[in-house]
Amino acid sequence: MSEIHSDALVLFGATGDLAYKKIFPSLHALLKRGNLDVPVICVARGALSLDQLKARVRESIETHGRFDAATFKRLSARLRYVRGDYGNPATFAALRQELGAAKRPAHYLAIPPSLFASVVEQLASSGCSNGARMVVEKPFGRDLVSARDLNQVLLATFDEEHIFRIDHYLGKRPVHNMVFFRFANAFLEPFWNHKFVKSVQITMAESFGVQGRGAFYDQVGTIRDVIQNHLFQVLANLAMEPPARADAESMRDEKVKVLKSIPPIETKNLVRGQFAGYRQEPDVPPDSQQETFAALRLEIDSWRWAGVPFYIRAGKLLPVTCTEVVVRLHRAPKIFPGCAGVANHLRFRISPDMTIAIGATVMDAEDRMTGQHTELLASHRPGSEEMDAYERVLGDALAGDRTLFARQDYVEEAWRIVDPVLKAETPLFEYQPGSWGPKQANRKLSPPGGWQNPAVTEPS
Ligand code: BG6
Repeated sequence: MSEIHSDALVLFGATGDLAYKKIFPSLHALLKRGNLDVPVICVARGALSLDQLKARVRESIETHGRFDAATFKRLSARLRYVRGDYGNPATFAALRQELGAAKRPAHYLAIPPSLFASVVEQLASSGCSNGARMVVEKPFGRDLVSARDLNQVLLATFDEEHIFRIDHYLGKRPVHNMVFFRFANAFLEPFWNHKFVKSVQITMAESFGVQGRGAFYDQVGTIRDVIQNHLFQVLANLAMEPPARADAESMRDEKVKVLKSIPPIETKNLVRGQFAGYRQEPDVPPDSQQETFAALRLEIDSWRWAGVPFYIRAGKLLPVTCTEVVVRLHRAPKIFPGCAGVANHLRFRISPDMTIAIGATVMDAEDRMTGQHTELLASHRPGSEEMDAYERVLGDALAGDRTLFARQDYVEEAWRIVDPVLKAETPLFEYQPGSWGPKQANRKLSPPGGWQNPAVTEPS
């Protein structure tokens, strides 16, 4: 079904960090590609003038995007500015004015979730919500109860079909491609199940720390920051059944089914870590118990996956920056002497490059019947003109395509799975920056055959 394109973008939080680092560079890229043809109405509480705002937008693109003078000129001509407090009806009356004849504006809340309710109420009472779409940033709640509350706030004014919950991981081409690759090829299907798959592991490693976001990070921690959202999306793409059709709802139905089959994580299946020095980061309390690393194990109780352990680990200040998935198959019988019957695997790399690899045993070059492990691999490093995740999700939200956005039931299921471990007091182990997290993650929660630590080579 083709959707009506939004005819205005309203950006709440236009002077914030996310707008600076991601949103303006993405709008600039969208416009350059010919995909942004609407006014961009910036709303912010700051004291900047329109010219100062434009200067900030320019700086943001120069710093975080691929600045092009002609494109910036056109973007600049589209920028409007409504300055005012989010609780003040006058701000929304001014916004109503700016919207003019727009029939399907997209309101993008790049603001702290504590302000969502008041903004949504004001949008409704000012008439700015009529016919509008609502685009919201993560974190979408901090547990199941708060996510439900937030959904209620949004659903009081907007229909679910007009709500776009951003998880930028879904906008990453390699993440989307996992679904495409699985269902556009027939060869995977016969072994993509518990009969052949022994374990699955997903690693999201980041070699940097909290980068001055201590105040935010200490409120969330690794499970809320990247596991409950980004890595569960990767898991759902790996594990979902083929959708009946390729439309947004059929795809999202299948993802929800995956999460529904996952029992809540047990505390014994979680290891939390904190890097040494985290408590000395700006805005982090000296006695913080927040994790900067988590490793966990879960199961999907479905016909396809029953009995297959899924492992997820993510952390800051690990040796490399890389997200990848390794699907290990059962070992082949040891028919050939000297061949240890090594397990085959499939490896999907999501970043920094896009790789799909099949791990196999081949005959050794010299010793005829000795097995040698190798990978058959296709790899692609994104070029400078490729669409980045934010550009893709913003373009889709404006176009009304819901495929790459989290639905209400999905978000609530994801919180249900992690809720018990978030509420429990679980031990926190220190790890050294540059290591692969606390040793307990290897001792207590190691996949059969161990964790496979991604190796990253810099582009030559
Ligand atoms: C964000 C998290 O959602 O995703 C960050 O808040 C994390 O902590 C980031 O670093 C990772 O995304 P990307 O696209 O940079 O890999």
